[in-house]
Amino acid sequence: RFPYSQLRAARRLKSDFAFVFDIDGVLIRGKKPIAEARSALESLNKNKIPYILMTNGGGVLEREKANEVTRITNCSKINPLQVVQSHTPMKALTRDKKFQRVLVVGGDGDNSRQVAYEYGFKDVVMPIDIVKANKSVSPHCMYTTHDFELYAKPVDLDKPIDAILVFNDPRDMSSDIQIVQDLLNSQNGVCGTKRSIKSVADPTEPSIPILFSNNDYVYANDFPLPRFGQGAFRIITETLYNHTNKLEPSQNLQSLIMGKPFKLQYDFAHHVLIDWNEKISSGDTESQQILPYLGEVPEQTPFKKIYMVGDNPESDIKGAHDHGWESVLLRTGVYKDEDWDDIIARPSVGVFDNVEDAVKHVLRANG
Ligand code: G3P
Ligand code: MG
Repeated sequence: RFPYSQLRAARRLKSDFAFVFDIDGVLIRGKKPIAEARSALESLNKNKIPYILMTNGGGVLEREKANEVTRITNCSKINPLQVVQSHTPMKALTRDKKFQRVLVVGGDGDNSRQVAYEYGFKDVVMPIDIVKANKSVSPHCMYTTHDFELYAKPVDLDKPIDAILVFNDPRDMSSDIQIVQDLLNSQNGVCGTKRSIKSVADPTEPSIPILFSNNDYVYANDFPLPRFGQGAFRIITETLYNHTNKLEPSQNLQSLIMGKPFKLQYDFAHHVLIDWNEKISSGDTESQQILPYLGEVPEQTPFKKIYMVGDNPESDIKGAHDHGWESVLLRTGVYKDEDWDDIIARPSVGVFDNVEDAVKHVLRANG
């Protein structure tokens, strides 16, 4: 006889709410832990409440980010399948093989190249390759001989690049600015060429598409004041492109911006959360992750509530607010109480001193 009572009991054991944690300013700050992170995550592990981490950071593989957060917070091992970085949804771009050859920008060394290869991109060029091939591309570059030896790969500059993918904050900003602008204004993505803007039907459309993996103007590290992030680079990129092409004040460079607070990222994270929930419910956390297409909205969800716990009102809280999640704002990162009157979106649950207080509150509220 089918064990209906066990099935009912198992269903009762499954949580109908889940957490999504931001990383920088919630679990860690720079390379330092936020003291309460460990106990917050352990209480969820103990209570079998599903959670994933969604960060606008990146530039490393998901398993490295999972290991980094585990090591810094000293919590039980976080699975790479629980990690959504800003560029993680770009995995979906390799499905239709539209972009064969991409310029990947940002991150330490050539880590982002390794990430892009692991995602399935076949030919990945980085700015350092271009500068090594022709140093006059970026006369004031900060790369050392050691960097060139370690990270640059030979590149054929005459071969067109199909798209620019900004994976993480630029390290050698002047080289990245120059090379990105060159390609946006090139003839079909060929380095060292320039299209005539007069022959272009829509001047806001660059020669090749550019995708920014996040739009964080600032983020929190261990410095007392917030630091500029990829969003600042996006503004620089747009400003230079608009200026070069003499666009009207009402016009702007076309681009795709991913990461929090955008719907694409929240839908993607929702899929990851559902997949992770299935895995922990079945006890099989080794099976392959089932990923959506870019922009696919989950059709069904086991969760009545998803709690986004973040420190940045503009990304974490705005995204949760716009896409139907609950939200909790913390005082351990970007947000300061004096910002309250001006914040872009208010957290549905409230403001807390740290992640542990927030988790305790939500657990109590859900009985
Ligand atoms: O570069 C990291 C930063 O943009 C934000 O990270 O974890 O606060 O979304 P996070
Ligand atoms: Mg943050």
